[in-house]
Amino acid sequence: MAKMEVKTSLLDNMIGVGDMVLLEPLNEETFINNLKKRFDHNEIYTYIGSVVISVNPYRSLPIYSPEKVEDYRNRNFYELSPHIFALSDEAYRSLRDQDKDQCILITGESGAGKTEASKLVMSYVAAVCGKGAEVNQVKEQLLQSNPVLEAFGNAKTVRNDNSSRFGKYMDIEFDFKGDPLGGVISNYLLEKSRVVKQPRGERNFHVFYQLLSGASEELLNKLKLERDFSRYNYLSLDSAKVNGVDDAANFRTVRNAMQIVGFMDHEAESVLEVVAAVLKLGNIEFKPESRVNGLDESKIKDKNELKEICELTGIDQSVLERAFSFRTVEAKQEKVSTTLNVAQAYYARDALAKNLYSRLFSWLVNRINESIKAQTKVRKKVMGVLDIYGFEIFEDNSFEQFIINYCNEKLQQIFIELTLKEEQEEYIREDIEWTHIDYFNNAIICDLIENNTNGILAMLDEECLRPGTVTDETFLEKLNQVCATHQHFESRMSKCSRFLNDTTLPHSCFRIQHYAGKVLYQVEGFVDKNNDLLYRDLSQAMWKASHALIKSLFPEGNPTKINLKRPPTAGSQFKASVATLMKNLQTKNPNYIRCIKPNDKKAAHIFSEALVCHQIRYLGLLENVRVRRAGYAFRQAYEPCLERYKMLCKQTWPHWKGPARSGVEVLFNELEIPVEEYSFGRSKIFIRNPRTLFKLEDLRKQRLEDLATLIQKIYRGWKCRTHFLLMKKSQIVIAAWYRRYAQLKRYQQIKSSALVIQSYIRGWKARKILRELKHQKRCQEAVTTIAAYWHGTQVRREYRKFFRANAGKKIYEFTLQRIVQKYFLEMKKKMPSLSPIDKNWPSRPYLFLDSTHKELKRIFHLWRCKKYRDQFTDQQKLIYEEKLEASELFKDKKALYPSSVGQPFQGAYLEINKNPKYKKLKDAIEEKIIIAEVVNKINRANGKSTSRIFLLTNNNLLLADQKSGQIKSEVPLVDVTKVSMSSQNDGFFAVHLKEGSEAASKGDFLFSSDHLIEMATKLYRTTLSQTKQKLNIEISDEFLVQFRQDKVCVKFIQGNQKNGSVPTCKRKNNRLLEVAVP
Ligand SMILES: Nc1ncnc2c1ncn2[C@@H]1O[C@H](COP(=O)(O)OP(=O)(O)OP(=O)(O)O)[C@@H](O)[C@H]1O
Ligand SMILES: [Mg+2]
Repeated sequence: MAKMEVKTSLLDNMIGVGDMVLLEPLNEETFINNLKKRFDHNEIYTYIGSVVISVNPYRSLPIYSPEKVEDYRNRNFYELSPHIFALSDEAYRSLRDQDKDQCILITGESGAGKTEASKLVMSYVAAVCGKGAEVNQVKEQLLQSNPVLEAFGNAKTVRNDNSSRFGKYMDIEFDFKGDPLGGVISNYLLEKSRVVKQPRGERNFHVFYQLLSGASEELLNKLKLERDFSRYNYLSLDSAKVNGVDDAANFRTVRNAMQIVGFMDHEAESVLEVVAAVLKLGNIEFKPESRVNGLDESKIKDKNELKEICELTGIDQSVLERAFSFRTVEAKQEKVSTTLNVAQAYYARDALAKNLYSRLFSWLVNRINESIKAQTKVRKKVMGVLDIYGFEIFEDNSFEQFIINYCNEKLQQIFIELTLKEEQEEYIREDIEWTHIDYFNNAIICDLIENNTNGILAMLDEECLRPGTVTDETFLEKLNQVCATHQHFESRMSKCSRFLNDTTLPHSCFRIQHYAGKVLYQVEGFVDKNNDLLYRDLSQAMWKASHALIKSLFPEGNPTKINLKRPPTAGSQFKASVATLMKNLQTKNPNYIRCIKPNDKKAAHIFSEALVCHQIRYLGLLENVRVRRAGYAFRQAYEPCLERYKMLCKQTWPHWKGPARSGVEVLFNELEIPVEEYSFGRSKIFIRNPRTLFKLEDLRKQRLEDLATLIQKIYRGWKCRTHFLLMKKSQIVIAAWYRRYAQLKRYQQIKSSALVIQSYIRGWKARKILRELKHQKRCQEAVTTIAAYWHGTQVRREYRKFFRANAGKKIYEFTLQRIVQKYFLEMKKKMPSLSPIDKNWPSRPYLFLDSTHKELKRIFHLWRCKKYRDQFTDQQKLIYEEKLEASELFKDKKALYPSSVGQPFQGAYLEINKNPKYKKLKDAIEEKIIIAEVVNKINRANGKSTSRIFLLTNNNLLLADQKSGQIKSEVPLVDVTKVSMSSQNDGFFAVHLKEGSEAASKGDFLFSSDHLIEMATKLYRTTLSQTKQKLNIEISDEFLVQFRQDKVCVKFIQGNQKNGSVPTCKRKNNRLLEVAVP
């Protein structure tokens, strides 16, 4: 389904005008055109202010869906397009929120849609009011009472296929929340004549047709009925079927509804039995039979039907038969029985049928009331829905139409009173400026009918009660006398000269000019119907029935309760109940739905302007609009107004001290409502435009929300504070308990700690004492022991000499002494030679002497070495010193060294003194000669060697020619810096001279000698003693020698054996001199 557009005002997308108040210009034509235009667009509802005009569409429109209900729910009246739901919502909300009892008055002529409207109102209210299992049941029962009452109280008429033939006023009761509690239905005068006779083209009450079409064969058999309508005299045949109505289905609906409303199965069955009995009554026929006394007496033609009725109702057949034949009149303890003629018998039969049916109907209403009665006694709010038979004009109008139309007159009256008259009067009363509007007041017609002294109903009653022959004609005569001058009364025989020539009026008729038109009433039957007589024999026969329901319907048949007083006439009863109804309606807030019938054909889409125009006129709708336009849309007494809106202004909220009127003035000024929008009456404020009211309502709603928030805030604050205080209190209690607990714990802990410490201290003290005691004990024991030992020692000392035990030690010491003695003596004998190099030493005889033995060996060796050293002469010592020096310089460094150890250092190998060749040389040298030896001097140029005499004195090193003895070179020892040699087994050595010295001019010397070790040692020692400097001796297989300007590298290589065992020297190049060592 397409989503409905959201409307915020009835002005949105309006077709024509939604509220006739807005119509411009306002006249009958524009009014009808507007209605027609809206009707053509399926807008069947139009407002006149708060009155809803409803035009019967004669087809179902999709405007009553649950979505629509939701749309109209809680919306302001003028917010959406006009709808019966808007009115229902308004009524329901003011009932719920403002605690005002409501009534919904639905008026209009027959077929205008009143009953449908009342059902729509009820279903809307049911949809929006409270929910819940119990509430739903109440709602369901209220709604389902409709089909039951319609089946029994509605019938097809020429005007309406479902015409209400009774008046119904239903009070729906609500609790303070707006939940329905229950209801009360009042019914008004059922048109019971229809039971026995229907005008042409009309039907009896629906229930007869429904029963025959819808009941199962079994039920029909039980009720002794046949399905064929034509079998029953009371059912008119010409319109037994109604278009679009399924009687059979409706029968099921009605049975179902009865069940929901709360009828027991046996009750429902009893009801149907009564219906069947009524139907069958119509089939009882009478025939005349002449009696002996010459009078005609009626006899039942075919007793079969009577028998079946009696079986159905449990009445003794003879009793009933008699009741149809006789009439007993009781007066002053006298009983007079007269026979009935055929006509009287038929009259009696029909009277019984009508009474049976109408009493059944009243019983049904009571029974429903019992079910839907509110269960609680709490104060109730009430919404009354009035759906009464509409104003009707038939070809033949009788007492029923008179009554119905009277009722409609009264309703129109109340409408006039409450809306038009009351409105105008109120303006005058309240001193509000007002232009008077003319309207037709139908009070005069009401008066014609109901006036207690000369009203038509009073006349009728008078006639009925009058002794003597009373007929409808006498009644008409009376009317002609009394009412002739009344401007709304007409009759052929009227004395009024105006009507003397009025031949349009038939005899035995009178015409009343009702507000809604002239109606011609047939006077025939008025008296009878007003009397509503049922022969006592019949009521007594009924009371005797064993059928509980029928018995209860005729309480007056009880012979013990015979009441000779006449029951009130139908007319006076109706007048009284209408008066009560009117009084009741006046106490409530009225809401009007004015139904209009668009055509006489019961057809959709046809809008008969003439017909509508007529209805508009008699309903006084134009006047209604005028009054509405001239006046104010809303009024309210100052107090409730101030009470309702005082929260909108600071001065009036929460309390206004002054009079309510000034409070409202302040309030309206504060809200800046334009002055033309309202007027102040004597006791009421008048608001011209509904929109102003809605604005006020909206503001109030908003403000209420704010106030609710405020209350909520304060409440929450209070709640939190209370909670907080409680928590605080609780916290203190908890804290106290906790502290107590904590202190207890602490105390216990301290106590136990104290105990521990105490026990430790006590333990410690005890141990200390114990220790002391033990010590004392030990001391005592020690003393004892010492004393014992002492005594023992003393004793042993004294007695030792007497012990053998000492002998062992003595023997041991002695033996040891002997062994040592023997060892030393034997060692003396075995002493090795005194040579220090002798390694022999006698073996050790005893293991325990091992260390002694080694020590002895060491001491002996040192001793013989000393002995050996002591033999040396000074010269020998010197030689050994030199040997020692040589060992320190060359041992493990030079391969030549070991071979030199065994050779004694002789120094002067060459005896210069003895050889005369060297006499000159000897003379030249004054110092002591330390070395005189022939060495090979290596030629720097080619590596070849030449012999030279090598002389070392205390201060100089001299080289002399071997043959001539001539000194070739003399080098002071201070100029000698270093001696280089190889690590190998050769005799080459270089003597390096101090650079720059005189001797160094020819460069360093490179020699080869057989006594290299001795010469190097002596040169070292001499240099040390003379210059106090250690001569640098370099042992390396490669060293540099300064030859004049050049530095030549002397390299020692491992030579082959080719040249024998003599090392050879070879100049390799300018820089390298290679010495091959074998
Ligand atoms: N709102 C509606 N929508 C559709 N059809 C409607 C509507 N109102 C009335 N009708 C049709 O009009 C018929 C007559 O209406 P209804 O029975 O309500 O008239 P009434 O005013 O109660 O007449 P009476 O006075 O005879 O009881 C209904 O049976 C229904 O078919
Ligand atoms: Mg109706």
